[in-house]
Amino acid sequence: MAYDYYASGAEDQWTLQENRNAFSRILFRPRILIDVSKIDMTTTVLGFKISMPIMLAPTAFQKMAHPEGEYATARAASAAGTIMTLSSWATSSVEEVASTGPGIRFFQLYVYRDRNVVAQLVRRAERAGFKAIALTVDTPRLGRRESDIKNRFTLPPFLTLKNFEGLDLGKMDKADDSGLASYVAGQIDRTLSWKDVKWLQTITSLPILVKGVLTAEDARIAVQAGAAGIIVSNHGARQLDYVPATIMALEEVVKAAQGRVPVFLDGGVRRGTDVFKALALGASGIFIGRPVVFSLAAEGEAGVRKVLSMLREEFELTMALSGCRSLKEITRQHIMTDWDSPRALPAPRL
Ligand code: FNR
Repeated sequence: MAYDYYASGAEDQWTLQENRNAFSRILFRPRILIDVSKIDMTTTVLGFKISMPIMLAPTAFQKMAHPEGEYATARAASAAGTIMTLSSWATSSVEEVASTGPGIRFFQLYVYRDRNVVAQLVRRAERAGFKAIALTVDTPRLGRRESDIKNRFTLPPFLTLKNFEGLDLGKMDKADDSGLASYVAGQIDRTLSWKDVKWLQTITSLPILVKGVLTAEDARIAVQAGAAGIIVSNHGARQLDYVPATIMALEEVVKAAQGRVPVFLDGGVRRGTDVFKALALGASGIFIGRPVVFSLAAEGEAGVRKVLSMLREEFELTMALSGCRSLKEITRQHIMTDWDSPRALPAPRL
């Protein structure tokens, strides 16, 4: 049940496969005879310096993967010098994650019908030293994940949504611990709209990243609405099936943002070459979701550390073999896509 929850996508899982396949349709145009004895992978995200453009996406219920759950992830991210995004639906609270030690952390937010609950969550994240809000905007309803339906997925009874403990839940307060997860999911506000993005800016001074943009139209509105950044995401293919792979949607969003806010990507990033391809198409950085939960399940903190170091080493090697010494040197000319020259590329692997 837990594996299926982590691994699956929505409905036919076409987008789930496509998130990976699309990367294999992008090829390199490496430059040679450049001194690559020193490679600098550092970058700055919303003013915070990190060791590499590889960050951790929010994924719910991490204690279902490993008893240390989000604590282990937070320690591994901080050891790697990068940013962790904590899910609203974490099995550890913002305070508990903060207590693991220093680190740059973002808080992922779903907006509930009871705005008082939202305000309390944001305030707690601020107090616990979180540096930005990643507002998930692709989830007015949960996507249809058929293996979860078949398994009758529920959060194991010994786990709780820790960020909701101790809150004044008002109208939400009727759920007991075991019922809380499905109850909270049912409280997501389907009326959420751009005016709420403005409202969020009135209750917090934290920068807001809009997570779940797939079109140029929405990228333009996000910039106008005051977003500090955009995350091109299809929620790991768990929401609307048959949306394009995020790597296919990235370039139009980057063009629409016109450099006014940074654009990030998540979805299907599994190799250092994928990171490079995203940066070549204009991303300022990427986030990984499933690689974190799978490595956490395998080996806890050591597993997440290992996944981050593997991706880092692969990305460094890709830079060296492409002739890029810093992230600034990675350009659109370092790759070719099937929309550049349709006949020049091999048929997609399906
Ligand atoms: C997610 N994702 C997600 N997103 C979010 O905003 N809040 C959440 O609580 C979760 N929970 C969650 C659980 C699991 C098991 C998965 C796989 C994903 C989506 C996540 O942040 C991210 O967009 C994708 O996981 C990125 O794709 P990859 O790297 O998993 O392919």
